[in-house]
Amino acid sequence: MSVGRRDFLLGGGLAMAAAPAPAQVTPASPQPYQPSPGAVAAPPPDWDAVKAQFQTAPDQINMSAMLIASHPLPLRAAIDRFRREMDWRPVTYLDDNNRRLQAYSRAAAGRYLGVTGDQVALTDSTTMGVALVYAGLKLGYGDEIVTTNQDYYVTHESLRRASLRNGSTVRRIDLFDSIETVSEAQIVARLMAAVTPRTRVMALTWVHSSTGLKLPLPAISAALAQVNAARQEPERIILAVDGAHGFGAQDATLASLGCDVLMAGCHKWLFGPRGTGIIAANAAGWNRLRPTIPSYVDSNAWTAWVNNAPLPDHTDGPLMSPGGFKAFEHLWAIPTAIEFHEGIGKAHVAARTTQLADQLKAGLALMPHVRLVTPRDARLSAGIVSFDVHGLSTDAAVARLRARRIIASAAPYAIQHVRLTPSIMNSPAEVDLALAEVRGLAAA
Ligand SMILES: Cc1ncc(COP(=O)(O)O)c(C=O)c1O
Repeated sequence: MSVGRRDFLLGGGLAMAAAPAPAQVTPASPQPYQPSPGAVAAPPPDWDAVKAQFQTAPDQINMSAMLIASHPLPLRAAIDRFRREMDWRPVTYLDDNNRRLQAYSRAAAGRYLGVTGDQVALTDSTTMGVALVYAGLKLGYGDEIVTTNQDYYVTHESLRRASLRNGSTVRRIDLFDSIETVSEAQIVARLMAAVTPRTRVMALTWVHSSTGLKLPLPAISAALAQVNAARQEPERIILAVDGAHGFGAQDATLASLGCDVLMAGCHKWLFGPRGTGIIAANAAGWNRLRPTIPSYVDSNAWTAWVNNAPLPDHTDGPLMSPGGFKAFEHLWAIPTAIEFHEGIGKAHVAARTTQLADQLKAGLALMPHVRLVTPRDARLSAGIVSFDVHGLSTDAAVARLRARRIIASAAPYAIQHVRLTPSIMNSPAEVDLALAEVRGLAAA
């Protein structure tokens, strides 16, 4: 059935904004999400109606989903409802609702990724998730973690600090010699060549925020499964992934990717509440982790501590969710962000993101003063489009685009590129405007 503008606004959008008090929020269905098998089944939604849910300044074209989300209207309404409740009766509202609402948030994220709510921990960000996972790995002296020189600061620094604590060795390899010639086979071969009998973890990033390269995680996990078939626990290699730029932009589940642990922020491509994130893991992943920050939502842990009884020694989503008081209105509104995506359709979100990125890449590839960095192949790319402008530093190009109302960005890597990241809050017309402005940099 077609999701037209009216249906979208009445169904997934503004109806949520008009819903009653948050105590009546319907729990997310515990059924795991089934990934759409390749093709996009239902007709696409009215993208203008989707775009209208984002109230961004009309004098800016935000191609910055990879940085920090603008909240779509239903999410804004949900956060506002929770905020009012907390302002009205902060202690009793928290006492009466926190565990239940955090369970809905975990369930919604779990449904989205095809795992149960108990297999999801709620964090503040990708960074917090990555740090908690790598700090929490059950590793001993001499155990090895394979990662790459192309990974982000957050992964490198979390691994470095973790290895100082547990004595593990971090082995960093180059995934490719040149982004121009990178291939799935090369990536898989280089990673597998780095595996030794002491390798216990492969620590990767789904979509690289420097080049926009998307790793072929299903092929990598299939290769790891072959190695693991000849090993027993705990010698098996788990695949842990910084999913910041795939979560919310790609139509995938933990199982379809073959990841054991995925860490992501909700405040980028998912357009979820700012300051929220998740760790999702399968049974093998949770078995290899220990929490670092005490949980406030696992009632068994509290009860055991109060009664001086043995504390839980397993790990799962609730136990891994850092305790302490939070910006609860944001944490509790995660289901609304997930429902917003589900209302559009995960496959449609991914297809639209790819379509806009393709349009952008096609236009950039024609410009003689531009070097397109991100692979054109959708199997090796997602929503991030990175490029260089001849004769201009990255910072200068970003500044010039921003001065012309195109919100581009540069990431803090040793080698920087200009990035434009079109998403469901953009339109093909906006991509054309961005291309026109990049074209205008030629005279620089
Ligand atoms: C690959 C990667 N991981 C993690 C982050 C940080 O994400 P968060 O803001 O959710 O901590 C970024 C950039 O924002 C990134 O590019």
